[in-house]
Amino acid sequence: MALDESLVEELGIGPVWVRRQAVPAAPRETDAVASAPAAPAMPSAAPADMSREPAPPDAARSEAPQAASGDTEAPPLDAYDDLPWTDDVPAHVEPVVVDTPSDVHTLDWNALAERVANCERCRLCERRTNTVFGVGDREADWMLIGEAPGENEDKQGEPFVGQAGKLLDNMLRALTLSRQSNVYIANVIKCRPPGNRNPEPDEVARCEPYLQRQVELVKPKVIVAMGRFAAQSLLKNEASIASMRGRVHEYRGVPVIVTYHPAYLLRSLQDKSKAWADLCLARNTYRDALAALGVEQGAEKGGV
Ligand code: URA
Repeated sequence: MALDESLVEELGIGPVWVRRQAVPAAPRETDAVASAPAAPAMPSAAPADMSREPAPPDAARSEAPQAASGDTEAPPLDAYDDLPWTDDVPAHVEPVVVDTPSDVHTLDWNALAERVANCERCRLCERRTNTVFGVGDREADWMLIGEAPGENEDKQGEPFVGQAGKLLDNMLRALTLSRQSNVYIANVIKCRPPGNRNPEPDEVARCEPYLQRQVELVKPKVIVAMGRFAAQSLLKNEASIASMRGRVHEYRGVPVIVTYHPAYLLRSLQDKSKAWADLCLARNTYRDALAALGVEQGAEKGGV
């Protein structure tokens, strides 16, 4: 299927996304990404990954991001001031040993969803409104993995329903992908950490079997990890987004592409073209996977 070029333009995720005068002269980054559009010059002190989308508690915030517009200034920094992450603060990832129910890997979709809905394995259950299990095609070739629900997701029980979700949906649309048809979206953590704080290592460890089982059930051909937290949790490292991008990693035998979190992109418009390059790498990786399986072009499930 062809790319929706007009949508790429609208999103501003082609090479001309950043207004030139808004970007201080800086050396181009040399992330080698197959068939990716050229990345715009980066500000030398670009903020990096901030994972979850902030809750929009007031009107000012809800007006702040214009996710799908290609011609919008970045929202003021204080519009997202409760974002806890920056890429230059290393995550504290300590191996935590927790008891894992031995039957999770045997559960079918319904049983797994029910298990998550009733989960009390960590303290996050105490303040959640809803668990956020996942959404989309349970047999999708593409799986997107974020970090943890924010306020809107906690209220609605669905991942990525705020402004970041809109941006994500638009980027997926440019690849003829959508959560309604051919993508599955889940988070590493199924309950909202209060105040959008960083999930604790034991919370990650206790939630991990659920995501593992979701991946086993979906059997995606490519996984896109969005944001440093999701990438580090899947790949079990403490690396920066910058060092993980542009390469094909692996999670339980499935190729993994690392990209920025959409909430970060709302704030750092200059990195949208890099995120687009990451999605192009994911698309190429997906095509390679299909070719290796002998799937003919045009017979694929998942877009592009
Ligand atoms: N950020 C995430 O990582 N996941 C969501 O579901 C929403 C925001």
